[in-house]
Amino acid sequence: MPPERYAKIAGWGKYVPERVLTNADLEKMVDTSDEWITQRTGIKERHLRTEKDTNSSMAVAASIPAIEMAGLTAKDLDLIIVATSSPDYLLPPVSSQIQHMLGAECGAFQLGAGCSGWVYALTTADQFIKAGGYNNILVVGVEIISFALDYTDRTTCVLFGDAAAAVVLTATDQPSGVLAFELGSDGSGAEALIVPAAGSTKPIDFEGIENRENFIRMDGQTVFKFATRAVAGSLKRVVSQAGLLPDDIALFIPHQANARIIEAGAKLLRQPLDKFYVNVHKYGNTSAASVPLAMVEAIEEGRLKPGDKVAMVAFGAGLTWAAVVVQMGEGEISPAHTLFSAGRAAYLAKKAQNRVLDGVQAALLPLYTWRHKSRKRRK
Ligand code: UT7
Repeated sequence: MPPERYAKIAGWGKYVPERVLTNADLEKMVDTSDEWITQRTGIKERHLRTEKDTNSSMAVAASIPAIEMAGLTAKDLDLIIVATSSPDYLLPPVSSQIQHMLGAECGAFQLGAGCSGWVYALTTADQFIKAGGYNNILVVGVEIISFALDYTDRTTCVLFGDAAAAVVLTATDQPSGVLAFELGSDGSGAEALIVPAAGSTKPIDFEGIENRENFIRMDGQTVFKFATRAVAGSLKRVVSQAGLLPDDIALFIPHQANARIIEAGAKLLRQPLDKFYVNVHKYGNTSAASVPLAMVEAIEEGRLKPGDKVAMVAFGAGLTWAAVVVQMGEGEISPAHTLFSAGRAAYLAKKAQNRVLDGVQAALLPLYTWRHKSRKRRK
């Protein structure tokens, strides 16, 4: 009998843009208050892309440390899966831009499942490895969701932020990685979280722009009720499917949309709130980047040890939800490794960002030179 195959999380990285938008900043932009945002969501600030950030550059900045930490180069990757709802362009898929920028020589695809996308992507990668087809897969969650925010609509613009995070899954015969998963979809709730115009049903036109239909619209209450049910229900089912009890889970990592949804989930699962990782106050809802960003920060903060079982859950547009139980591999996260990786990941992310910028500048240089010369000629 061939040995069992598992997919361990062998490397990870994150990228958060430098620009910070605080609740106090938002008070000057729309009719809101720090008190309202804090009490109703738990969010204090969020990071927004700067001019130098694109979806692909942020993904690359998060991926380089993940690949290096896994002891690989981009050429060793067998597949890249990118969960996002805010690619650089409608076409091509951003996954191919990321593959090219990394220097990888493998297949790549973009996966859209709203804020649940990264958990869908992790589960998909795990299946490819368990089936024996691939050994090393990069799984990215990246979002510049701010491009679809209406900064005159206080019901949505205070909630979201931009970020990227990535992990590398590698094949191993040591029990680790995804132990159980649940993927869910209920398209009857499509209207509850939607960008009405810009797709093929209603291509963007002047009327759409005038009606601000190119921005996210959300029925917050409907999503809130769906989310509290989805968090507790899918976590309960996926933990039991893994043959475990909620008490066996070292840390729950929920989608960071609203602190109240996380509190309700903890209550319904009858688990202490401090077993639920929270960083929504720093980043707001970063959609498909939210769960991997929380996982990377939980590791960096030493909240996870080798052998720990982690339950992650996400929910969002679709409506979709997804939950997994993951076992952290033995010997992967020593305290020294955690400290090293946090510092090293930040350094590598910065280096990657500079490399992407240099590339963009180099690509634009002939254009600048041509424009400069033609201006000079006209003079
Ligand atoms: O990835 C999935 C993404 N989405 C979510 O997870 C969102 C789930 N939903 C939520 O988190 C919450 O429903 C919200 C945070 C969006 C809203 O909180 P809420 O407690 O459900 O508020 P609400 O929608 O019932 O609105 C209550 C009041 C309304 O005023 P009136 O009609 O009572 O006068 C809103 O207009 O709060 C008002 N309001 C605000 N006031 C100040 C809504 N947004 C704001 C705001 N500042 N930013």
